[in-house]
Amino acid sequence: MKQIAVSIKNVSFGYDKNEEVIRDVTLDIPASTYVTIIGHNGSGKSTLAKLIVGLLQPASGDIAIFDEVMDEENLYELRKYLGIVFQNPDNQFVGATVADDIAFGLENRQVPNEEMDSIINDVAKKVGMENFLNKEPINLSGGQKQRAAIAGVLAMNPKIIIFDEATAMLDPRGKKEIRDIIQLMRKENPDLTLISITHDIEEAVASDFIYVMNEGKIVNQGTPKEVFASKEQLEEIKLDLPFFYKLKSALMGEGFPVSEYEDLESMVESLCK
Ligand SMILES: Nc1ncnc2c1ncn2[C@@H]1O[C@H](COP(=O)(O)OP(=O)(O)O)[C@@H](O)[C@H]1O
Ligand SMILES: [Mg+2]
Repeated sequence: MKQIAVSIKNVSFGYDKNEEVIRDVTLDIPASTYVTIIGHNGSGKSTLAKLIVGLLQPASGDIAIFDEVMDEENLYELRKYLGIVFQNPDNQFVGATVADDIAFGLENRQVPNEEMDSIINDVAKKVGMENFLNKEPINLSGGQKQRAAIAGVLAMNPKIIIFDEATAMLDPRGKKEIRDIIQLMRKENPDLTLISITHDIEEAVASDFIYVMNEGKIVNQGTPKEVFASKEQLEEIKLDLPFFYKLKSALMGEGFPVSEYEDLESMVESLCK
């Protein structure tokens, strides 16, 4: 049986005592999977991410990382398993150069200098930033800053990485770069557990499993195929269908027998026969 990387049990939380923004959420994220959490603005996704990494504490319920329930005593140890990439590339960049930025977490952990250089080079290569190590943030695009942030997270060698709308502020090229890096990370390190909170419904299609949040609750979950089959529910909570599912639904509405197809290529091929 697969280990559970993140287990959330009956967790509720509110910034204000009178208003819960996370309402009795229960979910298990198996290790080595790539899950996405989708949901409208204000549905509680970032709050949930901060609860998972221990930046916020649940008002009730438990969060366990690899079967260990997070508490004040083990918080520091458990956080070593976790990395998070936030939305705003400018708020993430803490160093004077890319190398300094990646070094930041390593310095906190008192990694010896000799080791540090090889780790920095290694993770910079993984995100395609090896030629930017001496560059300052002002000379970088948003996408490059996010790649530096990802390198900084990778340097800490976490087992679980959360991306909280990490591509939301990027241009299409920057978005694609980050998506490609996520795919590459999965290939190179299949043990990693990746949790991506995203508005990018096309990104959700590429994940193993999707959680749909609305008003602080998990309102649906399943494989992309399962989740995008409930078009009405997604519309109700104002989420769009991915391009492929929209097209398929329109074609089915016109009487084309395409219900069995699960990707664009095979569906188009069948129609062209
Ligand atoms: N620091 C905060 N203080 C008070 N309320 C907050 C804070 N951060 C978020 N909220 C509120 O909590 C709810 C959930 O927000 P958030 O988790 O950021 O949602 P999402 O990431 O899905 O957009 C919203 O109503 C938001 O206004
Ligand atoms: Mg958010």
